[in-house]
Amino acid sequence: MDKAQDILDKMASDEQASLLAGADFWTTHAVPRLNVPKIKVSDGPNGARGAGALGGEVTSNCFPCGIALGASWNQKALYQVGAALAEEAKAKKASVLLAPTVNLHRSGLNGRNFECFSEDPIVTAHLAVSYITGLQDQGVGATIKHFVGNESEFERQTMSSDIDERPLRELYMVPFEAAVKEAGVWAIMSSYNRLNGTYTSEHEWLLSTVLRGEWRYDGIVMSDWYGSHSTVQSVAAGLDLEMPGPGRFRGDRLARALHDGEVSAKSVKASAGRMLKLIERVETFDQDTLSEEGSVDTPELRAFLRDIAAEGAVLLKNDDILPLQKSELKSVAAIGPNAAVARIMGGGSAQINTAYKISPLEGLQKALGANCVQFAPGCSNNRLVQAIDGTIKVDFFAGREFAGEPVHSSTSAISEFLWFDPPVAHLGMTDFSVRVKTTLSVEKSGLYRLGLCNAGLANLYLDGALVIDGVEGWQKGENFFGLGNSERTVEIPLESGKSYEIFAEYRPHSAEWEGIDIRALRFGLEPVLGEAELAEAERIAASADVAIVFAGRSGEWDTEGLDLPNFDLPGSQNALISRVAKANANTIVVLQTGGPVTMPWLSEVKAVLQLWYPGQELGHAVADILLGEAEPAGRLPQTFPKGMEDSSVLMQMPERYPGVDGHVRYDEGLSIGYRHYDRHKGAVLFPFGYGLSYTSFDWTLASERALTIDKSGAVISVEVENKGSRSGADVVQLYMVPPKGSVERPEKELRCFEKVKLDPGQKSMVDFSISPRDLCFYSPEDHAFRADPGTYQMQICKNAHEPIGFVSVILEETVFYSV
Ligand code: BGC
Repeated sequence: MDKAQDILDKMASDEQASLLAGADFWTTHAVPRLNVPKIKVSDGPNGARGAGALGGEVTSNCFPCGIALGASWNQKALYQVGAALAEEAKAKKASVLLAPTVNLHRSGLNGRNFECFSEDPIVTAHLAVSYITGLQDQGVGATIKHFVGNESEFERQTMSSDIDERPLRELYMVPFEAAVKEAGVWAIMSSYNRLNGTYTSEHEWLLSTVLRGEWRYDGIVMSDWYGSHSTVQSVAAGLDLEMPGPGRFRGDRLARALHDGEVSAKSVKASAGRMLKLIERVETFDQDTLSEEGSVDTPELRAFLRDIAAEGAVLLKNDDILPLQKSELKSVAAIGPNAAVARIMGGGSAQINTAYKISPLEGLQKALGANCVQFAPGCSNNRLVQAIDGTIKVDFFAGREFAGEPVHSSTSAISEFLWFDPPVAHLGMTDFSVRVKTTLSVEKSGLYRLGLCNAGLANLYLDGALVIDGVEGWQKGENFFGLGNSERTVEIPLESGKSYEIFAEYRPHSAEWEGIDIRALRFGLEPVLGEAELAEAERIAASADVAIVFAGRSGEWDTEGLDLPNFDLPGSQNALISRVAKANANTIVVLQTGGPVTMPWLSEVKAVLQLWYPGQELGHAVADILLGEAEPAGRLPQTFPKGMEDSSVLMQMPERYPGVDGHVRYDEGLSIGYRHYDRHKGAVLFPFGYGLSYTSFDWTLASERALTIDKSGAVISVEVENKGSRSGADVVQLYMVPPKGSVERPEKELRCFEKVKLDPGQKSMVDFSISPRDLCFYSPEDHAFRADPGTYQMQICKNAHEPIGFVSVILEETVFYSV
């Protein structure tokens, strides 16, 4: 008998039930009598934050965000990311990482678009399998999330995603199914939303019929944080773990329901068994030191993070300007709101405290020498006033009145604080107060903007005088997952050479909320920018050899809890780019966004490089790519349309997006991303799979042009040769084009891809193994995947709009594959 089963049999039913809810925000319950340890889980996905708060002292390394990893199309690299993240998790004594996020890019406006890999289920699935395997091979559990239909943040805790079975089985479930069947994932997180009217955390068809029945999943299902809504239904449906703890619907309520026979002892035992199996699978840590968290910092990891950032960078345009020749560069103008600020990650639960981050300006200065690089911000792209970087003193007081001596003091490197748990162990969630203080000076005299937003009650003081009242009339707004108010701001003249003391006093609301409950505070300071700054940017651009505009968004826009308003660059960035391009014919735009963005200035600039949020080595990676030390090796994992008008999801049909009366209808069916734009090619700015290289490749189809396929499958081969004079990377993509038939299908669907890296003159053969399963659609009538006889084209493409040849595959008999 295995050990977990043995322990399970020895457990009393209340001990079993105790395993079914968290003990606190990040840990499960221990059962000391039977030596069952508590384990810790940690966010995820672009680092391992640990239990510490954002703004706390323990730091973590920041990896590229999901879409940047998606853009790498590199399964081997994703395995290494998973393995490196396992070390990060272990430093935090976490046995399970809450990652990867594999919801699909449906609208492009999802606040968490940045966190997800791709609009395509196969790219997402292959990368997720590698990431999960990398993690789990090191003994750290992955938690693939959010199962399923969590493609927007709008009313996310109640919204019903109404999705037909075909798009569910052919698109949205595919990454989860692959994670179960190919990676043997150990944990799955249910989503906040409802699926066709029922919360996913209590969806019997989803969790029991499909997941455990059809897919034979043997891991645990945990709820998203406060995403569990019942005792009886959730246990019956197969939700094993309610998070966070202490359980609102479990604990005493579960004990009572068990006692009253409303919940079956068999279901509780089955869930407890799965929890024990998880504990047996993962590395566990000494219970006495579980809260002592550490960080990893090695030269190898720094180098890896630098390389992996370039791996997902997509070169969208290059009119013979990149890579720049370092020896010929005398002056570079680094312009834009993302030049001096390191935008390394998206916002929300993916945020972590990094020990360091390199801005593009720092990266360029390091590579070229400070004298060679001139800087001007040009304009701002902030949604919220820029948080202050520096040494910030944080004093915690017992009680809500900032009274007496602080009971705990610490420092933070940034003026943003998120407390999921009580910030000091012995204080409650409502009976503490905190004073956060810093001293600063400004470089230039002028008008400055101060901003404050808070989930809880806060005031902001400048040199002892109240400047922003965040208490009077406080109400929930769009910040901090919808639990903070809208930012309040004030404009104040400040003088250079003077020192100013800024402090905020914060206390939580006096009662805890239903649903997600956090405490948060953020304040910031930034100069008020206008025409003078735009003109200054033009001036330095005009006098430089090359002008590089660092534009885009930030983790305040690309964030959990809030969808994006549109695809346009915020603030005056479009005007800035056009004005700089007029001032300097050698203008390059480096973009950082978590998804598609419009580019009205595209024809005016020489090059465009999309970098997403690539992690803490951002600035070094930018310099490497611009100066040709690294190849921009990424390809778009999401179509960039010209605008929102032609999207299948955003076409003025509110029931499709953002949803009406609590329902968002996915009735565009399979038509998302390139599956839609293949019928509207004129609406595309850059197609799915697109990206340029610094070298050039020749592709030759090395298979017969027609072959017959049966269940034993077939191999389609493509030879790729690097014809240029530099090493480089290319991504070979294979799409299946079905014959016209009685069932409506997308024009083509990606089935395989492979990234190749080649030195000059080097050749490599890419072999794609395909099977009739790759020809299938899901047939609800047959309750199976099915392909009918006919001739299918296997198109080899550089991107969704650039086929280079195809192989005809003949299927002679109908095939079925069970679910
Ligand atoms: C997010 C999850 C995350 C959890 C814990 C939720 O708000 O949706 O992805 O893992 O919080 O932080």
